[in-house]
Amino acid sequence: MRPNLPKTNALGQTPLSTRTIIPLHAETPLEDRRRRPLRDLRISVMDRCNFRCPYCMPEDKYHKDFQFLSSQQRLSFAEITRLARLFAGLGVHKLRITGGEPLLRPELPDLLGDLDGIEGIDDLALTTNGILLAQHAAALKAAGLDRVTISLDSLDDEVFRAMSGGRGSKDKVLEGIAEARQAGLGPIKVNAVIKRGVNDHTALDLVEHFRGSGVIVRFIEYMDVGTINHWQAADTVPAAELVERINTRWPITPVDPGYHGEVARRYAFADGAGELGFIASVTAPFCGACTRARLSSDGQLFTCLFASEGHDLKGPMREGATDDELLAIIERIWTGREDRYSERRAADGGGDKVEMYYIGG
Ligand code: GTP
Ligand code: 5AD
Ligand code: SF4
Ligand code: SF4
Repeated sequence: MRPNLPKTNALGQTPLSTRTIIPLHAETPLEDRRRRPLRDLRISVMDRCNFRCPYCMPEDKYHKDFQFLSSQQRLSFAEITRLARLFAGLGVHKLRITGGEPLLRPELPDLLGDLDGIEGIDDLALTTNGILLAQHAAALKAAGLDRVTISLDSLDDEVFRAMSGGRGSKDKVLEGIAEARQAGLGPIKVNAVIKRGVNDHTALDLVEHFRGSGVIVRFIEYMDVGTINHWQAADTVPAAELVERINTRWPITPVDPGYHGEVARRYAFADGAGELGFIASVTAPFCGACTRARLSSDGQLFTCLFASEGHDLKGPMREGATDDELLAIIERIWTGREDRYSERRAADGGGDKVEMYYIGG
């Protein structure tokens, strides 16, 4: 566990950029209309990606002339750090860095160093597709990153490339995982999205490969995020079906959640070879305990993965809003929040929704 102390410079002083300037009101957490506190902030630092997963950034739409955000449109590290500090003051204790692909953001370790100094943040994690991880793992750890979660949909080369849009290779991702372990970025989790008829036949290979290694494999039900993936219910493999298949081969039993509101349902191997997770957002929604807010790389705040619109924080910030003014905006957004899309999918499904690569899953 990290000590909750701001970093000091060589003179033993707290540098301005990491100084906490607002009081922590953890004892009176900010709650939304469904009495859910704001506990996690997922920060997308880059809308670009070096993969073209057909379910997220299909090549025909995200081609070489596609206009991604410019660096001026993206929040700077100072802007991200300022907002993260304000969120920490409102009760956020966990930050997750996402993309697109976050490792495409130049000088990312500098940002992690700044975030690591924020009082109240006790978990600093990053989600990556793993392709650039081997070269960056040590620097990320040294900067203050606690742990990484790597997306890896299949160990079969052909299936891997079908899921990644023909980019990257599973060997490179495995190298990244090995380097991350070496660097001490654990507990390491591997996220595999399972799409029926595409990679469900290779799911058990992932279990076999990582069983006993300490790496936690988590299977994600394929979801109707965004609009471009043309999701159909038949594409989703229910977590219960996977649990049954795995249990037949390697007996597994449910384990208590690691923390309140954990997204993954945990299972342990009966023979002690570690654990697995199942993220059943389609068949067993977890909106009731959803404490997550999402910040896009251009400073829009989203209160649900399936929201159609965000709330602009960059505009007010660049127009000179004070910390108190920004806090008031965030408080207003969170206290007005009613989202529970996954629980109402059948009734509310369809419509405009933000794309996954833009807010990072
Ligand atoms: P831990 O902190 O390790 O427990 O990770 P996490 O499960 O909070 O985060 P992670 O990024 O690994 O989440 C894995 C996947 O679960 C995401 O990529 C999404 O597909 C899905 N997921 C996470 N949060 C939500 C959520 O709030 N709603 C829905 N519907 N899906 C979510
Ligand atoms: N359903 C479920 N998971 C998805 N991801 C991307 N699109 C979807 C989807 N439609 C996953 C990625 C990655 C994480 C950030 O989100 O594969 O593991
Ligand atoms: Fe990139 Fe992740 Fe989207 Fe694949 S799912 S295109 S790796 S952001
Ligand atoms: Fe939270 Fe929205 Fe996901 Fe429900 S659907 S868990 S409200 S992000």
